[in-house]
Amino acid sequence: MRLLAIESSCDDSAIAYLDVNRRGIRRLEHVVASQAIHAKYGGVVPEVAAREHATTMPFLLDAIAEKVIGSTDGRRLGRVVDVVAATRGPGLITSLKVGLDTAKALTAAWNKKFIGVNHIAGHIYSNWLPGAALDRAYDKQYPLSEAERSRRGSNGASVKGLFPALVLVVSGGHTELLLMRGHGKFKLLGATLDDAAGEAFDKTAKLMGLGYPGGPQLSKLAAAGNPKVYDFPRPLLHEKNDAFSFAGLKTSVRYFLREHEEQLTDEKFRADVAASTEQAIVDVLKKKTVRAAERLGVKTILLAGGVAANSKLRTELGELLAERLPKARLVLPPLKYCTDNAAMIAVAAYFRAETGHFDDWRRADADAGWELGRSS
Ligand code: KG4
Ligand code: ZN
Repeated sequence: MRLLAIESSCDDSAIAYLDVNRRGIRRLEHVVASQAIHAKYGGVVPEVAAREHATTMPFLLDAIAEKVIGSTDGRRLGRVVDVVAATRGPGLITSLKVGLDTAKALTAAWNKKFIGVNHIAGHIYSNWLPGAALDRAYDKQYPLSEAERSRRGSNGASVKGLFPALVLVVSGGHTELLLMRGHGKFKLLGATLDDAAGEAFDKTAKLMGLGYPGGPQLSKLAAAGNPKVYDFPRPLLHEKNDAFSFAGLKTSVRYFLREHEEQLTDEKFRADVAASTEQAIVDVLKKKTVRAAERLGVKTILLAGGVAANSKLRTELGELLAERLPKARLVLPPLKYCTDNAAMIAVAAYFRAETGHFDDWRRADADAGWELGRSS
């Protein structure tokens, strides 16, 4: 099955081409254009983002066509596509519409099948992309038969025996624990009551005068610091639920920095504050995830979203799981597919297409608040 997928939910415009079957991925091409313009505003400006998507999308289409067929001939590109997919939500409504409408126009012009994808499901499916840590530790625990190994292909796209899985989604807009019972079967267990984990990183980084998006920069600064120097709050850590809250942590760091303003130019102080903040966020995320995994008895834990690129979270979640649930398998998305991209949207669409369910493109509307796995 050959899919063309478009992502435009926030400030990254992206298109991917995926040729995949049950044995695995045969070909994957993807292009992303990140909007640098928002850095000067210290955050994403929705109106500006939508205009940038509209300006960029035709060039991205040319770029993906060049990669796939070696020319920008749109009609020829259409001949090697079976399904068109696009992110339909959640996200910024005006941003979503640009990618979705582009996809709908291509669906109509090429007379193809169409699938509208949930952005968070997309992040989760980044764990099925080449480079995801699917094989190592788990293979030692549960050796695969030769038959199953060949079914998997090289990338794990058809991996069996993963479910039930627990998913920790940590992005700029979302922090959630979901139970995944099978492909496309999600149940929301708990979410953040206020800020997302990515926001906690970004807002603290902003307080410290770092650029936007601040997550990677705060994490870089933290690497030189001691995470044990300052004891910032770990909200809801001891509550017996799957909810998160990060607004209090940010406020606490803000007051702390105000009281120690004179030290803000001291590199050691800055690194220690960054490291202690990062440790507080990672502690809450890893402990609540492992607790939920123990309670639910899942086989697999999947990490997803932009903050999944954080190396402390990747390492410490793995260490805690190895200690507390040695038989469970942790899957980490490849670093390059942690933040927004269209390859993950294409894989999510593939697993839906496999069930034979497609969407009517004429009725597919952007849904800014589309919640994955909320029982209705
Ligand atoms: O998933 P994503 O690209 O966009 C949303 O759908 O929100 O996530 C972006 C978020 C930002 O908050 C960014 O600061 C954070 O992911 N992020 C990180 C790291 N890389 C990206 N946070 C901490 N450490 C990182 N290495
Ligand atoms: Zn995202």
